[in-house]
Amino acid sequence: MLKVGVLVSGGGTNLQAILDNIESGYINNAKIVTVISSNPEAYALKRAEKYGINAVCIKKKDFSDEESFLNAMEKHLDSFGVELIVLAGFMTVLGKSFTEKYKNKIINIHPALIPSFCGDGFYGLKVHEEALKKGVKVTGATVHFVNEETDGGPIILQKAVEVQDDDTPEILQKRVMEQAEWKIFPEAVKLISEGKIVVEGNKVRRLL
Ligand code: GAR
Repeated sequence: MLKVGVLVSGGGTNLQAILDNIESGYINNAKIVTVISSNPEAYALKRAEKYGINAVCIKKKDFSDEESFLNAMEKHLDSFGVELIVLAGFMTVLGKSFTEKYKNKIINIHPALIPSFCGDGFYGLKVHEEALKKGVKVTGATVHFVNEETDGGPIILQKAVEVQDDDTPEILQKRVMEQAEWKIFPEAVKLISEGKIVVEGNKVRRLL
């Protein structure tokens, strides 16, 4: 059983999608052992508690410097034996020492087709606002491994979603979540837990 730690900041619908897919048996070789939120008010913490999963808030602002924040995160994750760190709408950038320590062991969901609408400053609703401003006809979501470059690690899965003429950022965000994020994020956890994902340089190969 792969031990998964999920890092969140907000509503936690992607956390819920993973929980649902564990409950249904679609993911049968992974379990969530802890949920860490950067925000004490995050509804994601309540979702975790409902399942009896350890749920804590570790906030960067509560520490004097980045190093002590990252040390606290590592200590918590290691105490639960976490083998895969899942960033499910986690809005704090993790430093290089952290991404190097957990190389190819951290995955993130991004609400666009990387390399479009990604990098520093592109998160949450802002991503969809920019996609609509540009007038793209297709957007989507990407699951990727996390390295020191924001949204720059090897891509695991992507799924495209059509943009409609009268979309607002909120409507588009919801469609991208429903049609892409909540599908490919659990799928990536399943594939990794079954040992079907191999990283070769900056590319991912999927074993059948
Ligand atoms: C999701 O749309 C996720 O893709 C996005 O934040 C939202 C979190 O929603 N993540 C980013 O923008 C990261 N760059 P959730 O808390 O309901 O899962």
